This record gives sequence, C-alpha cells and structure tokens, in this order.
Amino acid sequence: MSWISLRQVSRHYGTVTAPHPTDLDVVEDEFLTLLGPSGGGKTTTLRILAGFVPPSAGRVLFGDDDVTRMPPNQRQVGMVFQDYALFPHLTVAENIAFALREPRVRDGAVAARVADLLALIHLPDAGRRYPGQLTGGQQQRVALARAIAHPPRVLLMDEPLGALDQKLREAMQVELRRIQQSLGITTIFVTHDQGEAMNLADTIAVMSEGRVVQRGPPQEIYQHPTSRFVADFIGQINFIEGTVVGRDGPWDVAQAGGSQLLVPPGTPGAVTIGVRPHQIAFVADGVADGVADGVSNVGADGDANRSGNRLPGRVLFTSFGGNVYRTRVQVAGAEWVVESHPSAGARTDGSLVVLTWLPGQTVVLRT
Ligand SMILES: Nc1ncnc2c1ncn2[C@@H]1O[C@H](COP(=O)(O)OP(=O)(O)O)[C@@H](O)[C@H]1O
Ligand SMILES: [Mg+2]
Repeated sequence: MSWISLRQVSRHYGTVTAPHPTDLDVVEDEFLTLLGPSGGGKTTTLRILAGFVPPSAGRVLFGDDDVTRMPPNQRQVGMVFQDYALFPHLTVAENIAFALREPRVRDGAVAARVADLLALIHLPDAGRRYPGQLTGGQQQRVALARAIAHPPRVLLMDEPLGALDQKLREAMQVELRRIQQSLGITTIFVTHDQGEAMNLADTIAVMSEGRVVQRGPPQEIYQHPTSRFVADFIGQINFIEGTVVGRDGPWDVAQAGGSQLLVPPGTPGAVTIGVRPHQIAFVADGVADGVADGVSNVGADGDANRSGNRLPGRVLFTSFGGNVYRTRVQVAGAEWVVESHPSAGARTDGSLVVLTWLPGQTVVLRT
C-alpha cells in the first residue's frame, strides 16, 4: 500500500498545463526526488501535495485518506523552501516551537522537544539566537527542524539547498539523508541538480514539461535511461546515431560512424547509441602495453581487443579536472568526451586514437 499518491493529478495555468495528468506513488519512509529542468512542474506538484494549489483534476491520497480538498494546515505536511522562511523577530527556539503551536517555549515538554531537535540538527546552543545571526546552512537546518517538529506525514522540500555553496550543499545532503533515515520520514525533495538527486534519493522521478518521464532508483535511471532527454540530463553521455543490422551472439550489431558496434539487444532499425565518458578507454598504440595503458577498465580480463567496441577518432584537446583528464575527441559526425585517470597521461592534440568500451556499457535508445 502506497503512502502518498497522486492519481491523474493535473493543473492548468491559462494555456500551460503542468503537471499533465500524473500518477505518482511514494511508499512509507521513501526518499523520492523530483528532478527536472526549470518550468517542468515540480513546484506545482509539491504545492498540490501540500494543499496550497488545488489540482484542476485528479485526487491526492495520503494512505487511505483522500486529502484533495483538505486545507494545508490539516494535512500534517512539513515544508522546507529554498529561502528558509524563518521568522526574523523570533529566536531559533521560538521558530521551532512555533510549529508546535507554542511560540513562547514556556512549557517544559515544548522546551524538551526543541532541545531534542536542536541536538538533531547539530545546533544544540543556538536556541536563543536569531535567524539573522546564523549562516545560510544553519538557517536551513533550523527550517528543517521546524518542518519536522510536529512529525509530518510527509516532508516536502523545494530546492532547499539551492542557496548554499557547493561544499556546504554536499555536507547538507549527507545531514539530510542521516536525519531522514534516522527518523524514517517519507520525503519528497525537488531539485534541478542531478548530482544532488543521485546523492539523496531512493527513487528519482524525472520530470520534464509537466510529465514524469522516468521513475526508478538512481542506478537504474543512470544505467538504463529510456530517452535521450533522461540520458543527457542524468550525467554526461556521448551519442552517435546508428542502425541495427544483425546479431552477434547475445548482442545486436549496429552500423554507426563507419564502424560496427555491439550493443544490448532489442528491436532492429534506427537507434541512438550512448556511452558515458568514464566508460571509454583509449586502445593502446602498441598491443603489448594494452593493459597498462588505461584499457584495463574496459573489462575484468583487460582484453579490449577481443570484447570491446572500437571507434576511431582524432583528439581535439584535453582538460585537467584534478582526478580526471577530459579528452575531447572528434569521432564520425560527433564530438565525444573521454574521461581517464591522470596516471594514463594526456593524449597529444591532433593525434589519431581508437576509443573502446564494452558492449554491455552501451546505452541504446530506440525511437
Ligand atoms: N501561479 C502561476 N501562474 C501562472 N503560471 C504558473 C504559476 N505557477 C507555475 N506556473 C507555470 O507552470 C509551469 C510549471 O511551473 P513550476 O511548477 O514552478 O515548475 P518547476 O518547479 O519545475 O520549475 C511553468 O510553465 C510556470 O510558468
Ligand atoms: Mg520550482
């Protein structure tokens, strides 16, 4: 039985529809991330769940309760926004206690609950301070404490880490996951940042133009995207167009860029072939140093010559990313990116290379 459900929920704004009729299910204790570019309907979906925006059609269910017409303050949802929305004239303790409908923190039970929450967010001594005296990250933790002070049936967060710098953002992702797991709160988290979605979520629902276009665990979305949009939005990927022309053992044979490539099997015809930059290696110039020359990540046996796809190209330029070299390579009709370990050394600009990767690491999109 699913805990939070949207049943054919849609919303019209004049001529714009976002979301289009959408079904979405979130099970108890699950951390679901709604991921997608701006304008996709993520915020509207969250506001429909919270009750701030009535859907144009469809039903919102919390467990067995139909809450479609229930006002926000009766839904027992916790909300965290990007801009914190703390009361500046109340102390941190008063802000949290406000969610317990007791702004004065007089009652011993309220004070104890506030102290527990401050400990949980690692700000045990901040109760008497004002929001303006805290950093952005600290304010966001207070906003989280306030949202969960009254244990919510679902915690809804709309780009809550959007205003924080990258390092703090990553630290907060870890914190958030720790708190969510320790309390077991069903959570829906909106972001346009694919890295953040991957870090946090049990399940990602990718939203584009008002529709959930793919839903699944992060690994599945990354490894088996079902559309070019999702493949490209979740991480970097290289594409080449091809045609499946036959079979070779377990693989389909595709003709692409003047080469024959082995790809996971499916229906014949036109395909888009995708390969992640980190799954590609350079075939060594000399066969003897093949394994030592970075081909070793191609397969457990290191035998790229037998099992790997091969695509020739010319090096355009290389950039150094600290733990990785990114080499731009012109292959037939496309510019690809190859990521390799710096120990392999940089390729000379203009040199001819052969790229290799395993058939099983190939994404195939059939249209
Ligand atoms: N209050 C509103 N009035 C008119 N159009 C709106 C309103 N809120 C959202 N929209 C439109 O609905 C679409 C989805 O918006 P939104 O839910 O905010 O997407 P996201 O959060 O994914 O960026 C956009 O085209 C947006 O312009
Ligand atoms: Mg939004």
